[in-house]
Amino acid sequence: MKVVLSMKPKLTSEERDRLVLDLCEKVLEIEQRLIPMGKHVFGKVPASVELASLLRAVAGFDRPELKIRSLPDVICEALDLPSYPELVRQSRSHPDRMAQRLRVESLLEESIDCLLAAQANAAATASQWLSRTASVPSESVLPVFELLHRIRIQLMSNSELDSLARALRGEYLLPGPGADIVQNPAILPTGRNTHAINPTAIPSELAMRRAQPLTDSLIQRHLEASGRYPRSIAMVLWGIDNIKKEGEAVAQVLWLLGVKPRRDSLNRVTDVEVIPLDRLGRPRIDVVMTVSGIFRDLFPPTMALLDRAVRQVAALPEPEELNFVRRHVSRRMSEASCTFDEAAVRVFSNAAGNYGTNVNFMVLDSQWEESHELGRLFLKRKCFAYGRDSQGRSFEGREARRLLERALGEVEVTYQNIDSTEVGIVDVDHYFEYLGGLTKAAEAAAGARPAVYLADSLSPSARVRTLEETVRLEARTKMLNPKWYEAMLRHGFSGVAEIEHQLTNTFGWSATAAAVDNWIYDAAAETFVMDDEMLRRLRSLNPHSVHALVNRLLEASGRGLWSARPEIQEKLQETVAGLEDMLEGVSA
Ligand code: BEZ
Ligand code: MG
Repeated sequence: MKVVLSMKPKLTSEERDRLVLDLCEKVLEIEQRLIPMGKHVFGKVPASVELASLLRAVAGFDRPELKIRSLPDVICEALDLPSYPELVRQSRSHPDRMAQRLRVESLLEESIDCLLAAQANAAATASQWLSRTASVPSESVLPVFELLHRIRIQLMSNSELDSLARALRGEYLLPGPGADIVQNPAILPTGRNTHAINPTAIPSELAMRRAQPLTDSLIQRHLEASGRYPRSIAMVLWGIDNIKKEGEAVAQVLWLLGVKPRRDSLNRVTDVEVIPLDRLGRPRIDVVMTVSGIFRDLFPPTMALLDRAVRQVAALPEPEELNFVRRHVSRRMSEASCTFDEAAVRVFSNAAGNYGTNVNFMVLDSQWEESHELGRLFLKRKCFAYGRDSQGRSFEGREARRLLERALGEVEVTYQNIDSTEVGIVDVDHYFEYLGGLTKAAEAAAGARPAVYLADSLSPSARVRTLEETVRLEARTKMLNPKWYEAMLRHGFSGVAEIEHQLTNTFGWSATAAAVDNWIYDAAAETFVMDDEMLRRLRSLNPHSVHALVNRLLEASGRGLWSARPEIQEKLQETVAGLEDMLEGVSA
């Protein structure tokens, strides 16, 4: 990591402390990030699960349904410190708070090591250790250690193949929820019949509670960067993350608009209730929603709810500087001679029966000249409006490209949630096809590239990062991290393919959002191509993927997305020529 201490020779001691704390915070962020260690092999107990890190992440959450409190919070309380999220926040500017935070984190780590080392009565042993070492009341932490112990045992058994055989015989499989272990440890044991959630119940109360601080952080982050509230945010809504998190992204939309769900006696969300401006304490933010085809199919009642919420907010008799939805709708109506019903459309998806943006395919196949073509393809695929007009008539899936372009014309921020430790923004091509495609479309419509943010609600102190920060974090923790790529390489052929996917998906963020630093490509080339021994290993495991990786690097440089040093360029050219000869059978 580059350190900038040398750039300004005369630092005051406060400035130096600040730089050191910033650096410390970045190193901790990288160190504590959970990464998949290799791929899941069906039917096998994971060989290299980073068990201790996983359990630390699980222990970080309150789980009221299990009467469990966040372990770092309980430790903080016993040591008479602020809550853990507050301690983390303060540690960014106070060295003594950083020292206290490190102490809490080391107690957390050691207590989990103690649980893992115990031969018998693991949960009680760990609780007693924490009680002796930090005066934490052992009965307050016993339930969390019992949960961690249960997860450990469940991870060590695997009946997936048996379940598959039973399913093929048409036998009954026990159902289980679909989520990420950290969010919902009840997904264990694996090998069950995964079920989703009741679409009429989302967003759940829990999702509303968790969405509020996240939405506040998003707004605050933009306020600090730009000096004003974002007036309009374009947000991606996927089905899978809303299943895993009981509609937390939906809840974020409602908070941004300043409304909350109204429920009937069966806990069905039937309508929204407006939160008065004085209670909201900030303007209502306009939200343009890009909804995946999967979300559209899974959550029809939620699609209707979101549309209704926007219309209700647009019609509120409030000052336009405090209600940006109303501001934009009235502006559209006066400038563009359109009706209220047209001006208030905010829920967009694919045409009925269609899925995806295809922006990923265009990038993967190098089928673009100018990056604006990617935004245009996104618009074409995702401009179908969903909702009802003032008379209650549905316009389900009507093509409305101009309405989407106009709504995007006000957008200052694009945004999406990362919902799982298992799949990040460069593991698959779907994040850049959606958030990247949306960003490119908004850039063309608004005349300036929006700020792009991702929320990572996997850590209890909800974090919002810019796209650029997220790309850096993912590159450092995965593609460029020997722990990650060595774990992948143990899978042989498919591991090399995973490395190539990481690079290609990183490239997708250059193509759609110019969000990749030069050093990331430099470091990828140095790690996988300039190092002869590594190149030899990759070629022997999977020459096709190495060929694709080297070609993608050449494409990044050829398109001006990466300024490669001449010796790297030369080595890439030479490597690709050698690989082509090898693949065509000219040489071994
Ligand atoms: C989803 O809606 O869950 C989804 C959509 C596109 C890609 C991946 C997931
Ligand atoms: Mg896919």
